[in-house]
Amino acid sequence: MVNLTKEGLFSNKLMEEIREKFAFIDSDPITKKKRLFFDNAGGSFRLKSAVEKFSEFDMFPDHPQREHEAARYLAEIEERGIEDIRIIFNGKTGSISPYLTASQAIFDITGVITENIDGTNIVTTELEHPSAFDSAKFYANKLGKELRTAKTNPITGGVDVEEITKLIDDNTCLLTVIYASNISGAILDIETIVREARKIKPNLYIIVDSVQHAPHGIIDMEKTPVDAMNFAPYKFFGIRGCGIAYLSERAAKLPHHSLNGKSEGDWQLGSPAPAHFAAISEIVNYVCWIGSQFSNEKDKRILYVEGMRRIALHERTLLEVLLNGTERVKGLRNIMGVTVHLDYEDLSKRDLIVAITIDNLDFKEAVRQYEKENVIVYERVASSIYSKRMLESFGMTGSIRISPLHCNSVEEVEELLEVTQKIAERSVAVSRSE
Ligand SMILES: Cc1ncc(COP(=O)(O)O)c(C=O)c1O
Repeated sequence: MVNLTKEGLFSNKLMEEIREKFAFIDSDPITKKKRLFFDNAGGSFRLKSAVEKFSEFDMFPDHPQREHEAARYLAEIEERGIEDIRIIFNGKTGSISPYLTASQAIFDITGVITENIDGTNIVTTELEHPSAFDSAKFYANKLGKELRTAKTNPITGGVDVEEITKLIDDNTCLLTVIYASNISGAILDIETIVREARKIKPNLYIIVDSVQHAPHGIIDMEKTPVDAMNFAPYKFFGIRGCGIAYLSERAAKLPHHSLNGKSEGDWQLGSPAPAHFAAISEIVNYVCWIGSQFSNEKDKRILYVEGMRRIALHERTLLEVLLNGTERVKGLRNIMGVTVHLDYEDLSKRDLIVAITIDNLDFKEAVRQYEKENVIVYERVASSIYSKRMLESFGMTGSIRISPLHCNSVEEVEELLEVTQKIAERSVAVSRSE
């Protein structure tokens, strides 16, 4: 049971203000019926302001590379968005490259690095999202390089540092590794991985997929100076339609698709929508606004870090409630018929994602039953290309993934627990009667 006086939780007043900023926070977009949305790892709650700013600026017919006033205004919106992306990454010197999706970013950057950097092997992990794993495999096949895959750890739900570093040698062309898993929620120790990997090969190129972790924790290119990191705004309180990558200066200078005459480190190809940059600025402003509730600092990165730290603290308490329950309801760990998978005890090493199974209940059927109770969760099953390798690495065939967000309340998590208890009891009763 969780002691809810913990300082990690947002106050009721702040929670109210936070929830007001998100669209469909407690209702179904179509039926308008009350619902609980716990599939934020598939696409998160959206900030109303991000959607509003997107549509405000997407109305402009003007091209940002013209001289008239409205065009210059759009160019400023784009520049501000790029500055705000730098705040997210704490990346002052490298290049920012927008894509249509985060997967496109990883494929493109993996290609550029592996085609231009010497080395006979590429190192990755079993836990990668297919965008990173399949791009590593694609270029390993294309270029005749060996693909080395680090094993997962079923206790932590992550990948141990040594499992990765033991695969790296002088001939490693690229290490591509996920920051946190969208299946288990495990946060990898990227700082140590980068440090230890570069002890083996000091100039090793490294890509980190931050799509899962960016909305839940601080990322910092100065602490983890890698060659590329990405995030997807639609999983980060923002909107669909773009993926963003940060490239180190040396990676940005490698030969890449570019229009003749553009500067070496410019990866922008064509005319991305300034509106996307405006929407990303809203994400950063929002996190800074949370930071400003706890700090008088004026520096944007400091406020952003404080905001993200508070988000992580609130989410950790929600995770504790989810697992251990409250005075009112049992936690997932204690509901009969429910198994929590990859349930590592150190919650500071986990993003707010939980994988469960319910006895005698097929994953899809479980998700349908949750939906009948107006709760949205998602099944991760080994028949899906998006889950197969990761689940099998843990010896699992599937799970029900529950992924709330910091704008969820303790009361909502309690409701989810009540629904889970009901579904589990029903499933036990059905199996007894069969
Ligand atoms: C960890 C991780 N990496 C990459 C991606 C790919 O993002 P996108 O859908 O923008 O290509 C996802 C999406 O599910 C993800 O969860």
